Amino acid sequence: MGRVLITGAAGSIGRCVATGLHQEGWAVRGFDRASDPELGWDYVQGDITDAAALAAAMADCDAVIHLAAYPHCDGVMLDNLLQPNIIGVWTVLETARAQQLKRVVLASSVNAANGKQTRGRGAVSNDLDAPGNEYGLTKVFAEHAGRFAHHQHGLSVIAIRIGWFPRDAGEVAKIVKHGCENAYLSYDDCLRCFACALRCDDPGFALVYALSKPDPKPSRWDAEPAERLIGFVAQDRWPSGIPADLVAAAEAEIQAEAKPKP
Ligand SMILES: NC(=O)c1ccc[n+]([C@@H]2O[C@H](COP(=O)([O-])OP(=O)(O)OC[C@H]3O[C@@H](n4cnc5c(N)ncnc54)[C@H](O)[C@@H]3O)[C@@H](O)[C@H]2O)c1
Repeated sequence: MGRVLITGAAGSIGRCVATGLHQEGWAVRGFDRASDPELGWDYVQGDITDAAALAAAMADCDAVIHLAAYPHCDGVMLDNLLQPNIIGVWTVLETARAQQLKRVVLASSVNAANGKQTRGRGAVSNDLDAPGNEYGLTKVFAEHAGRFAHHQHGLSVIAIRIGWFPRDAGEVAKIVKHGCENAYLSYDDCLRCFACALRCDDPGFALVYALSKPDPKPSRWDAEPAERLIGFVAQDRWPSGIPADLVAAAEAEIQAEAKPKP
């Protein structure tokens, strides 16, 4: 167990992973441009495009989990995505290299591989680049920047193509309405996957999917490399693992929409 910096620690996945790793005994330091969520760990408020702030925050760390991003598929490259998702990820990798961190874990997304060319073709492998939107394209950049940092500079990098981790009741309802249950990633499986990525032996560079178990349709994404390369095996299956208050609120939203309008 060492010290891990988590960028985007005030966000949905950040709070889940930081709280869980903290409880597992890791020394967790959060880094986010948002103010401290007051969940009890060491915290730095800063922007991931600020190399000096990142360097100071990483100085005594062993690893970084890089989550901070513009995380929505409606992003426009020059308006929303360029600074956090391209310049930010580059700055994190460069700083991790300069600070000689032992492990970098990058948040990618299934959006890196959900383009039109993947439809109806069975499980999508973990080495296919097929972004279906500009956000997914920035995640492909992050993956390749991580691969580059490994091959050119020897950094140990794991990029994780995260499935749909519902941030609130509205997103739980959307998973049902859009039939995306097979892209679901539960809170506990998310934590398990990031913990595996910190603990596993150095894979050099690895690119894996983080998804809960598929049901009832087979998954669109190939989960096998996650087990082979970092030892992650999902335990939950939709809808297990979602906080009960979110499920209740989502069910109420779906029922309200289904009611005939007077
Ligand atoms: N939630 C999902 O379903 C999902 C799916 C696939 C990938 N991801 C990826 O996981 C990561 C975390 O997503 P999330 O759902 O927790 O998003 P979120 O919006 O809840 O959290 C993102 C956090 O990043 C911080 N942030 C944004 N720009 C920053 C900057 N320039 N400097 C410092 N902090 C900054 C925000 O303040 C926020 O706290 C993102 O990289 C996202 O692309 C999420």
